[in-house]
Amino acid sequence: MELSELQNECLACRRCPLCETRTHVVFGQGVPNAEVLFVGEGPGASEDEQGLPFVGRSGQLLDHYLEAVDLSRDKNVFIANIVKCRPPQNRDPLPEETQACLPWLRRQFQLLQPKIVVCLGRVAAQQLIDPGYSVTHDHGKFVEKGGTLFMATYHPAALLRYPVNKPAVFGDFAALREKICERCTHTY
Ligand code: URA
Repeated sequence: MELSELQNECLACRRCPLCETRTHVVFGQGVPNAEVLFVGEGPGASEDEQGLPFVGRSGQLLDHYLEAVDLSRDKNVFIANIVKCRPPQNRDPLPEETQACLPWLRRQFQLLQPKIVVCLGRVAAQQLIDPGYSVTHDHGKFVEKGGTLFMATYHPAALLRYPVNKPAVFGDFAALREKICERCTHTY
């Protein structure tokens, strides 16, 4: 199975009620041999319109941080979300929506076999690292799970609201760059 085949299956998904209100399924975007996987929460309005992750204002900010450490969705990373369809009014995904959608992320994970997973914000961090995860206290720390390193940082949309955390995120991306140099073979 290739990522493109999984994408075709995912685009037809009707496993939860978000399929009724979505414009597009947002499967994810990036290179198929990515060693670093970024995981956000779920599509917003711009992502739902375009079918691509992080293309609105918070996406521009994410691209800026990626670029600062020589990463890009066109070149060497993959970007996905916990839920692939937009929750109405940008509310947090409901537990049943998350549970219905997680098998898609698991299969993305199995195909990519990333060395490092970066959670963007609380929803992804609590789902993938620890249900009690606090981004404020724990951002930038790497934890190993089943041979993969996980780290979380502030969600770019949160940074647009609280720019005071921007330097902390630069620090997290600098730490990420170091970890990539240690653990990855073809990202740089
Ligand atoms: N916020 C997210 O969590 N994911 C996106 O794809 C866009 C905005």
